[in-house]
Amino acid sequence: MAASVPLGGRVVLETGRLVLREFARDDVEALFAILGDEEAMKYYPRKFTREDAVQWIDRNMQRYRDDGYGLWALVLKSTGEVVGDCGITRQVAEGEPLMEIGYHLRRDQWGKGYATEAARACMDYAFRTLAAGKIVSLIRAENLPSRRVAERNRLKVEREVMFHDLPHLLYAMTRENYGQA
Ligand SMILES: CC(C)(COP(=O)(O)OP(=O)(O)OC[C@H]1O[C@@H](n2cnc3c(N)ncnc32)[C@H](O)[C@@H]1OP(=O)(O)O)[C@@H](O)C(=O)NCCC(=O)NCCS
Repeated sequence: MAASVPLGGRVVLETGRLVLREFARDDVEALFAILGDEEAMKYYPRKFTREDAVQWIDRNMQRYRDDGYGLWALVLKSTGEVVGDCGITRQVAEGEPLMEIGYHLRRDQWGKGYATEAARACMDYAFRTLAAGKIVSLIRAENLPSRRVAERNRLKVEREVMFHDLPHLLYAMTRENYGQA
Protein backbone atom coordinates (compact mmCIF):
# COMPACT_ATOMS: atom_id res chain seq x y z
CA MET A 1 0.00 0.00 0.00
CA ALA A 2 1.22 3.47 -0.84
CA ALA A 3 1.24 6.05 1.94
CA SER A 4 -2.10 7.81 2.30
CA VAL A 5 -2.35 11.12 0.49
CA PRO A 6 -4.72 13.96 1.36
CA LEU A 7 -7.79 14.40 -0.84
CA GLY A 8 -6.70 16.11 -4.02
CA GLY A 9 -3.01 16.24 -4.91
CA ARG A 10 -0.90 19.19 -6.05
CA VAL A 11 -2.49 21.48 -8.63
CA VAL A 12 -0.36 21.55 -11.78
CA LEU A 13 -2.35 23.40 -14.44
CA GLU A 14 -5.43 25.55 -14.74
CA THR A 15 -7.45 26.44 -17.84
CA GLY A 16 -10.66 28.42 -18.26
CA ARG A 17 -12.90 25.54 -17.16
CA LEU A 18 -10.53 22.95 -15.72
CA VAL A 19 -7.93 22.20 -13.10
CA LEU A 20 -5.36 19.46 -13.63
CA ARG A 21 -4.02 18.17 -10.34
CA GLU A 22 -2.07 15.16 -9.18
CA PHE A 23 -4.11 12.03 -8.47
CA ALA A 24 -4.52 10.81 -4.91
CA ARG A 25 -5.72 7.41 -3.69
CA ASP A 26 -9.13 8.94 -2.87
CA ASP A 27 -9.76 9.37 -6.62
CA VAL A 28 -10.20 5.63 -7.27
CA GLU A 29 -14.00 5.66 -7.56
CA ALA A 30 -14.00 8.71 -9.86
CA LEU A 31 -11.30 7.15 -12.04
CA PHE A 32 -13.03 3.78 -12.17
CA ALA A 33 -16.20 5.51 -13.41
CA ILE A 34 -14.10 6.48 -16.44
CA LEU A 35 -11.83 3.48 -17.02
CA GLY A 36 -14.47 0.91 -16.09
CA ASP A 37 -16.84 2.07 -18.85
CA GLU A 38 -16.32 -0.67 -21.44
CA GLU A 39 -18.09 1.22 -24.23
CA ALA A 40 -15.94 4.32 -23.70
CA MET A 41 -12.75 2.26 -23.49
CA LYS A 42 -13.54 -0.03 -26.44
CA TYR A 43 -10.33 0.81 -28.31
CA TYR A 44 -8.26 -0.64 -25.49
CA PRO A 45 -7.43 -4.33 -25.81
CA ARG A 46 -8.83 -5.34 -22.42
CA LYS A 47 -11.30 -4.09 -19.87
CA PHE A 48 -10.27 -2.28 -16.71
CA THR A 49 -11.15 -3.46 -13.21
CA ARG A 50 -11.35 -1.41 -10.04
CA GLU A 51 -7.94 -2.81 -9.07
CA ASP A 52 -6.58 -1.50 -12.41
CA ALA A 53 -7.82 1.96 -11.41
CA VAL A 54 -5.93 1.66 -8.10
CA GLN A 55 -2.78 0.65 -9.98
CA TRP A 56 -3.30 3.45 -12.52
CA ILE A 57 -3.22 5.97 -9.67
CA ASP A 58 -0.20 4.35 -8.00
CA ARG A 59 1.66 4.27 -11.33
CA ASN A 60 1.00 7.96 -11.90
CA MET A 61 2.00 8.85 -8.32
CA GLN A 62 5.28 7.05 -9.04
CA ARG A 63 5.65 9.07 -12.26
CA TYR A 64 5.20 12.33 -10.32
CA ARG A 65 8.08 11.24 -8.08
CA ASP A 66 10.33 9.95 -10.88
CA ASP A 67 9.60 12.40 -13.72
CA GLY A 68 7.76 15.30 -12.09
CA TYR A 69 4.75 14.71 -14.37
CA GLY A 70 2.27 12.00 -15.38
CA LEU A 71 -1.44 11.72 -16.03
CA TRP A 72 -3.25 14.20 -13.83
CA ALA A 73 -6.83 14.27 -12.53
CA LEU A 74 -9.04 16.49 -14.70
CA VAL A 75 -11.34 18.47 -12.40
CA LEU A 76 -14.28 20.63 -13.47
CA LYS A 77 -13.97 24.03 -11.86
CA SER A 78 -17.75 24.42 -11.89
CA THR A 79 -18.41 21.37 -9.67
CA GLY A 80 -15.03 20.28 -8.27
CA GLU A 81 -15.67 16.82 -9.74
CA VAL A 82 -12.96 14.57 -11.24
CA VAL A 83 -14.33 13.67 -14.69
CA GLY A 84 -11.23 12.49 -16.48
CA ASP A 85 -7.50 12.51 -16.73
CA CYS A 86 -5.03 14.22 -18.99
CA GLY A 87 -1.30 14.57 -18.82
CA ILE A 88 2.13 13.69 -20.06
CA THR A 89 3.85 10.32 -19.85
CA ARG A 90 7.11 8.87 -21.14
CA GLN A 91 6.55 6.07 -23.66
CA VAL A 92 8.72 4.07 -26.04
CA ALA A 93 7.40 3.00 -29.44
CA GLU A 94 9.61 0.98 -31.79
CA GLY A 95 12.66 2.02 -29.77
CA GLU A 96 11.95 5.75 -29.86
CA PRO A 97 11.56 7.49 -26.48
CA LEU A 98 8.49 9.72 -26.64
CA MET A 99 6.65 12.23 -24.50
CA GLU A 100 2.98 11.44 -24.89
CA ILE A 101 -0.11 13.48 -24.12
CA GLY A 102 -3.01 11.23 -23.11
CA TYR A 103 -6.61 11.85 -22.07
CA HIS A 104 -9.69 9.97 -20.88
CA LEU A 105 -13.05 11.52 -20.08
CA ARG A 106 -16.16 10.16 -18.39
CA ARG A 107 -18.70 9.57 -21.14
CA ASP A 108 -21.33 12.02 -19.86
CA GLN A 109 -18.74 14.77 -20.27
CA TRP A 110 -17.91 14.14 -23.93
CA GLY A 111 -18.71 16.76 -26.54
CA LYS A 112 -17.86 19.83 -24.46
CA GLY A 113 -14.26 20.38 -25.51
CA TYR A 114 -12.74 19.43 -22.16
CA ALA A 115 -10.19 16.94 -23.55
CA THR A 116 -9.03 19.40 -26.21
CA GLU A 117 -8.73 22.18 -23.62
CA ALA A 118 -6.77 19.98 -21.20
CA ALA A 119 -4.51 18.51 -23.89
CA ARG A 120 -3.71 22.00 -25.18
CA ALA A 121 -2.64 23.09 -21.69
CA CYS A 122 -0.47 19.96 -21.37
CA MET A 123 1.16 20.61 -24.72
CA ASP A 124 1.97 24.16 -23.66
CA TYR A 125 3.39 22.84 -20.38
CA ALA A 126 5.50 20.24 -22.20
CA PHE A 127 7.08 22.79 -24.51
CA ARG A 128 7.39 25.75 -22.15
CA THR A 129 8.08 24.14 -18.78
CA LEU A 130 9.54 20.74 -19.64
CA ALA A 131 11.41 22.01 -22.73
CA ALA A 132 10.17 19.07 -24.83
CA GLY A 133 11.44 18.86 -28.40
CA LYS A 134 8.38 16.96 -29.58
CA ILE A 135 5.16 15.71 -28.09
CA VAL A 136 3.02 12.87 -29.46
CA SER A 137 -0.26 11.09 -28.98
CA LEU A 138 -0.44 7.38 -29.83
CA ILE A 139 -3.94 6.70 -31.13
CA ARG A 140 -5.67 3.68 -32.65
CA ALA A 141 -6.82 4.60 -36.18
CA GLU A 142 -10.43 3.63 -35.29
CA ASN A 143 -10.52 6.02 -32.32
CA LEU A 144 -11.92 8.98 -34.24
CA PRO A 145 -12.88 11.14 -31.21
CA SER A 146 -9.31 10.92 -29.91
CA ARG A 147 -7.89 11.70 -33.35
CA ARG A 148 -10.10 14.79 -33.53
CA VAL A 149 -8.74 16.00 -30.17
CA ALA A 150 -5.18 15.71 -31.55
CA GLU A 151 -6.14 17.36 -34.84
CA ARG A 152 -7.91 20.28 -33.14
CA ASN A 153 -4.60 20.89 -31.34
CA ARG A 154 -2.73 20.81 -34.70
CA LEU A 155 -0.91 17.50 -34.20
CA LYS A 156 -0.14 15.72 -37.47
CA VAL A 157 0.19 12.01 -38.22
CA GLU A 158 3.90 11.27 -38.44
CA ARG A 159 3.67 7.54 -39.15
CA GLU A 160 2.08 4.29 -38.04
CA VAL A 161 3.84 2.44 -35.22
CA MET A 162 3.33 -0.75 -33.27
CA PHE A 163 2.60 0.07 -29.63
CA HIS A 164 1.64 -2.58 -27.08
CA ASP A 165 1.47 -5.01 -30.04
CA LEU A 166 -1.22 -2.97 -31.82
CA PRO A 167 -0.92 -0.56 -34.77
CA HIS A 168 -1.28 3.07 -33.67
CA LEU A 169 -1.09 6.39 -35.46
CA LEU A 170 1.76 8.49 -34.10
CA TYR A 171 0.37 12.03 -33.97
CA ALA A 172 3.13 14.56 -33.32
CA MET A 173 3.87 18.22 -32.80
CA THR A 174 7.44 19.51 -32.84
CA ARG A 175 8.69 22.40 -30.77
CA GLU A 176 9.49 24.24 -34.01
CA ASN A 177 5.97 23.89 -35.42
CA TYR A 178 4.41 24.75 -32.08
CA GLY A 179 6.35 28.01 -31.98
CA GLN A 180 5.11 28.93 -35.45
CA ALA A 181 1.44 29.01 -34.44
C1 LIG B 1 -10.95 10.74 -26.54
C2 LIG B 1 -12.03 11.49 -25.76
C3 LIG B 1 -11.43 12.11 -24.50
C4 LIG B 1 -12.60 12.59 -26.66
O1 LIG B 1 -13.70 13.17 -26.01
P1 LIG B 1 -14.50 14.37 -26.72
O2 LIG B 1 -15.54 14.82 -25.79
O3 LIG B 1 -14.87 13.96 -28.10
O4 LIG B 1 -13.35 15.50 -26.87
P2 LIG B 1 -13.43 16.98 -26.30
O5 LIG B 1 -13.70 16.94 -24.82
O6 LIG B 1 -12.21 17.68 -26.74
O7 LIG B 1 -14.73 17.56 -27.00
C5 LIG B 1 -14.69 17.81 -28.38
C6 LIG B 1 -16.08 17.73 -28.94
O8 LIG B 1 -16.90 18.66 -28.24
C7 LIG B 1 -17.36 19.67 -29.15
N1 LIG B 1 -17.29 20.94 -28.39
C8 LIG B 1 -18.35 21.50 -27.74
N2 LIG B 1 -17.94 22.59 -27.09
C9 LIG B 1 -16.61 22.76 -27.34
C10 LIG B 1 -15.66 23.72 -26.92
N3 LIG B 1 -15.97 24.71 -26.12
N4 LIG B 1 -14.37 23.57 -27.34
C11 LIG B 1 -14.03 22.54 -28.15
N5 LIG B 1 -14.91 21.59 -28.56
C12 LIG B 1 -16.21 21.69 -28.15
C13 LIG B 1 -16.46 19.58 -30.35
O9 LIG B 1 -17.11 20.02 -31.51
C14 LIG B 1 -16.12 18.12 -30.38
O10 LIG B 1 -17.11 17.36 -30.98
P3 LIG B 1 -16.77 16.48 -32.33
O11 LIG B 1 -15.51 15.71 -32.07
O12 LIG B 1 -17.99 15.66 -32.47
O13 LIG B 1 -16.56 17.51 -33.37
C15 LIG B 1 -13.18 10.52 -25.35
O14 LIG B 1 -13.73 9.96 -26.51
C16 LIG B 1 -12.71 9.40 -24.42
O15 LIG B 1 -12.54 9.60 -23.22
N6 LIG B 1 -12.50 8.18 -24.98
C17 LIG B 1 -12.08 7.05 -24.16
C18 LIG B 1 -10.62 7.16 -23.79
C19 LIG B 1 -9.71 7.26 -25.01
O16 LIG B 1 -9.93 6.60 -26.02
N7 LIG B 1 -8.70 8.12 -24.88
C20 LIG B 1 -7.76 8.37 -25.94
C21 LIG B 1 -6.76 7.30 -26.04
S1 LIG B 1 -5.66 7.58 -27.44
